[in-house]
Amino acid sequence: MMIQASCWIYLKVCLVLWMVGQLQGRVTAPERLEAPVEKPFTLTCSVSRERGESLRQVRWLDVQNQTLLSYQPGNRDSVSGQHHVELASSPKDTSAITIRRVGFRDEGCYTCIFDLHPTGSKQGQTCLTVTSQVTVDSNKTAVSGKRASLSCSYGLPEKVQQIVWKHTSPQGESTEVASFAKRSDPMIEPPYQGRVWLSASLSDSQLTIQPVAIQDEGCYTCLYDTLAEGPKSSVICLSTYVLPKPQVSYKTITAGVIEANCTSVSRPPAEIVWNVERDNRTMGPPVTTQLPQGDGTTLVISTLTVQSGLLKDVSVKCLVHHKGLESPIAVSMNTKIGTALTILISVTTVAALLVMSLCFCLWKCFLRKEGKCVKNCRQTSEQV
Ligand SMILES: *[C@@H]1O[C@H](CO)[C@@H](O)[C@H](O)[C@H]1NC(C)=O
Ligand SMILES: *[C@@H]1O[C@H](CO)[C@@H](O)[C@H](O)[C@H]1NC(C)=O
Ligand SMILES: *[C@@H]1O[C@H](CO)[C@@H](O)[C@H](O)[C@H]1NC(C)=O
Ligand SMILES: *[C@@H]1O[C@H](CO)[C@@H](O)[C@H](O)[C@H]1NC(C)=O
Repeated sequence: MMIQASCWIYLKVCLVLWMVGQLQGRVTAPERLEAPVEKPFTLTCSVSRERGESLRQVRWLDVQNQTLLSYQPGNRDSVSGQHHVELASSPKDTSAITIRRVGFRDEGCYTCIFDLHPTGSKQGQTCLTVTSQVTVDSNKTAVSGKRASLSCSYGLPEKVQQIVWKHTSPQGESTEVASFAKRSDPMIEPPYQGRVWLSASLSDSQLTIQPVAIQDEGCYTCLYDTLAEGPKSSVICLSTYVLPKPQVSYKTITAGVIEANCTSVSRPPAEIVWNVERDNRTMGPPVTTQLPQGDGTTLVISTLTVQSGLLKDVSVKCLVHHKGLESPIAVSMNTKIGTALTILISVTTVAALLVMSLCFCLWKCFLRKEGKCVKNCRQTSEQV
C-alpha cells in the first residue's frame, strides 16, 4: 500500500512537472499581422526552452500547411524551403523568415514548429492579412477643351468588388461619374457619357475626360469596394484652365495723351504687366480691373495712359502671365510704328543694294578696260 501511494505521488509530481514543461516550452508568435502587398515581410516566432532541452529543428508551414522553410539552428547549410522566402537573422531561440514580396496568395495562417529534444515539438501560429493602400497621382490641371486623365491604383485587385469615381464640385456638390464592377463593363453616368471614359481594371483605374469643361473642376474620389477591408478611397483634384488670348486697343483721349487697354479672358485670372522696351518700367501706374464672367472665366483689363510721343520712341508691350503658359504672351502696341520701321529698313536695304551694284559695275567696267589695254599692249609689243 505504501509503495502504491508513493508511486501515485511520484506520478502526480511527474504530471505536474510535465505540464510546467509544456508551459515553459511555449511558443510566442503574434496572433494577427498586416502585411503591405508587394513589400518584403518578416514573420517571427520564439520559443522558451526548459533547462536541458535542445532545439533540433525549426519548421515553418505556409497557409496550405505545406513546408515553407526548415532548418537546424546554427547550421546555415541545412536551410531548405520555397524560393519566395528566406531565413532572416534572429536572436537565439527565435526564428524569423522573410517573404521576399508579399502577394495576395500569402494571406492566411502560418505555423512555426520548434522540434525540441527530448520533449518534442512546440508550435505557434501567426495569421497574415495582406493590405494595400489606394494611391493617386498628384493634383492635376487641364486646359479647357483638351484632355485630362486621372489615375488611381490599389494593389489587391482580387479583393476589389467595384470601383466608383465621384466628383465633388468646388461648391461641395457630389455626383457619381463612373463605375466599374467585376465581370461587367465600365458604366458612365448619363451626364458624362460621350466625354468620359473609364478603364476596365480593378487595380489601376483611369478616368479620362475629353474635352475638359470648366465645370469638371473639383476633386475626384476613387472608391474601391473591397470584400474584407471595406471601402478604400483616395482623392485627386483637377483645376481647369482657360488660356488667355490677349488684345491691345488704344485711343487718343486728349491731345497727345493715349489710353491703352490690354484685355485678357482666362481662368484663373491672368496677370498683366506693361513693358517698355525690354525694361519693365511702366509709364505711370496702370489700372487693372477684373470682371468675372458668367462661365467661370475672368476678364482682366489693364489700362495704361501714355504720352503719344513715347509710342514713337520706344516699343510698348503688354505682357500677360498665366499659370497655364510656359512663358508670358507679349502683345505690342506699336504696330503702326513697327510697319513704318519695316518700310524704312526695306527702303534702306534696297538703296544700299543699288549703290553696291553700281559700285560693282563701275569697278568691273574699269578693270575690263584695263585688262583689254594690257592685252592689246602685249599684242602690239609682240607684233613689234
Ligand atoms: C492546417 O492545419 C491546421 C491544424 O494544424 C488546421 O486547423 C488548418 O485547417 C490546416 N489548413 C489547411 C489549409 O489545411
Ligand atoms: C489637391 O488639391 C486640394 C484642393 O484643391 C488640396 O486640398 C490638396 O492639398 C491638394 N493635394 C496636393 C497633394 O497638392
Ligand atoms: C478701356 O477699358 C475701359 C473699361 O475698363 C473702357 O471704358 C475704355 O473705353 C477702354 N479703352 C479703350 C481704348 O479700349
Ligand atoms: C524690373 O526691372 C528691375 C531692374 O531693371 C528689376 O530689379 C526688377 O526685378 C524687375 N521687376 C520685374 C517684375 O521683373
